[in-house]
Order: sequence, then structure tokens, then C-alpha cells
Amino acid sequence: MIENIGIIGAGTMGSGIAQVAATAGCKVRLFDTSKSALENAERSLEKILDRLIEKGRITSEEKSRIQQSIDYTESLSGFSDSELVIEAIVENIDIKRKVFQELEGIVSADCIIASNTSSLSIASIAAVLENAERCIGIHFFNPAPLMKLVEVIPAIQTSEDVLERSVETIKAWGKTVAVAKDTPGFIVNRVARPFYGEALRIYEEGIADFATIDHAMKTIGGFRMGPFELMDFIGNDVNYTVTETVFEAFYYDPRYKPAFTQKRFSEAGYLGRKTGKGYYNYAEGAVKPEP
Ligand code: NAI
Repeated sequence: MIENIGIIGAGTMGSGIAQVAATAGCKVRLFDTSKSALENAERSLEKILDRLIEKGRITSEEKSRIQQSIDYTESLSGFSDSELVIEAIVENIDIKRKVFQELEGIVSADCIIASNTSSLSIASIAAVLENAERCIGIHFFNPAPLMKLVEVIPAIQTSEDVLERSVETIKAWGKTVAVAKDTPGFIVNRVARPFYGEALRIYEEGIADFATIDHAMKTIGGFRMGPFELMDFIGNDVNYTVTETVFEAFYYDPRYKPAFTQKRFSEAGYLGRKTGKGYYNYAEGAVKPEP
């Protein structure tokens, strides 16, 4: 049983994965280069755990145990005893490769190094490591503590042992695993591209507005969230980058073509819930999000 977990990036995904691992009884080191990201992660975990206590899902003892299991750090040096490190930083291959290289000089020889990337090639990230066999994709969905599914993606370099240990660990954390091939967007993000892409095109062609499209997809399509609500939830910057990566990786297949609307929203900083404005307005005081 893997006990010592390192997580790189304390944003939306890294902080959620830290909560999952700590709840499952692991010791977690959560690293970020941004002090404010670490402070936000710690604050938001406190709020989440308080809500779970209110709902009677955990006790206050359990809350303290989870909180004490997570060490928030601005240094990678403590990662030397990690058995599994999951990277969840910005979706940029060059930055991820640099971090992986630095990390390999710190962790032990048998530590698994995983990326939570939504769309980048695991083989390409693994290639910068001296021991590429230890590298794998472990892709959680947002919000990590609530979403059951985790995609596990072995690269062509990944050893069987690393795949097995990764799958066992994620299952022990109460998740359902789908092993996917190392292809752009894996399974879920590839299937999801046309969901967002066609919704954006319907809007751009003037057929319907954001709220109408979301309403139709929820009431007729049976989705829990409409495509625009979901893009606001994920973050327009993150979602746009994933579409761009999948589009390029499939040799510019028009099926995955990104939309200008989303590009402009990202450029304007209308990233969704995290900035208070996206396709809907989430500003404080707004009674309910309005387009
Ligand atoms: P985010 O923007 O919320 O957080 C990224 C964090 O990484 C920030 O706190 C930033 O300070 C930190 N960071 C950036 N460069 C760093 C470095 N060199 N070293 C250490 N920390 C660094 O991003 P989010 O949404 O958590 O995404 C992270 C990864 O997870 C991306 O690869 C993304 O594609 C993937 N992902 C995102 C999902 C989502 O719905 N947001 C869902 C599943 C995967």
C-alpha cells in the first residue's frame, strides 16, 4: 500500500487530489510555487470539510486527521520519501517536462511519477526521465473528491509494475479506474470535445444563447450541467487549451477545431467561476448566474 504521496500544483485539481489521498489515509505533501495557491488550497479544504461535517458525512476528528495529513510546501526537497507523485500544474508540455526532470533528481528510484494532464502525451513527458518506465498518466476529473472515475494512462515506456501499482492505489482511494491508451484527450476529454465545440458553434451561428443551449442539454439531453456551465466550472483557459492540444495532436482534424468565442473569453480573463465571470456572471451578490 502506497502511503506517501507528493502532489505538484495546489490549484483546482492538485488540492482536490490531495483531499482524496488524505481522506484515504495517505500522508500528502502538496507543493506549489505560489504561496497564495497553497493558502487558498488550505482555506478551501477547511470550508469543504466543515460542509461535510454539517452534512454528517465526517466527524470533527476526521476533519483534523485529514488536515494534519497534508503538508503544504513551497519546496520539493521533502519529496524524497514520496512513493507516488502526481503533477497537476499548468497544461504546458515544456513546463511539465522541466518539473519532471527536476523531480527525478529528488525522489527515490522506485517512486512513480504521474501526470494529471488532460490531453498531453504521456510518452513525451516520460521521455525526459532517465527512468521513463516509472512515468504514467493518472487523470482525475473535476471535482476530484466527487468524481468517481479516474483514467490511468500507461505510456509506451511505462512498466507493467507501475501500471499495476497505480491502478491498485487509485482503487484503494475509492475510485473507479478506466485504463486508456496514450492518445490525445484519452477517452473522456476526446468524447467531450464535440460536446463543447458544437455548443459553441450553435451559439456562434446565432441559433441559441448560452442559457438556452444549457437548458436544452439538461432537460432533453439529461446532462447534469450544460456545456457552458461546465466550461465555466472547468475554467475557459484550461478547457480551451485542452481543445487546442487535441486539435493539434489529431493533425488539425476539423472535428476538434477550437472556437473563437472561447479563445476570446480566455483572453479577456472571463475564465468562469474562478474569476467570477465566464459565460455567466458569478460575482458576489449575483442572485443566480446570468448570461
Ligand atoms: P490550476 O490553474 O487551478 O492550478 C495549477 C497550479 O499549478 C497553480 O496553483 C500554479 O501556481 C501551479 N504551478 C504552475 N506552475 C508550477 C510549477 N512549475 N511548479 C509548481 N506549481 C506550479 O489548474 P488545474 O485546473 O488544477 O489543472 C492542473 C492540471 O490538471 C492541468 O494539466 C489540467 O489540464 C489538468 N486537469 C484539469 C481539470 C479541470 O477541470 N480544471 C480536470 C482534469 C485535469
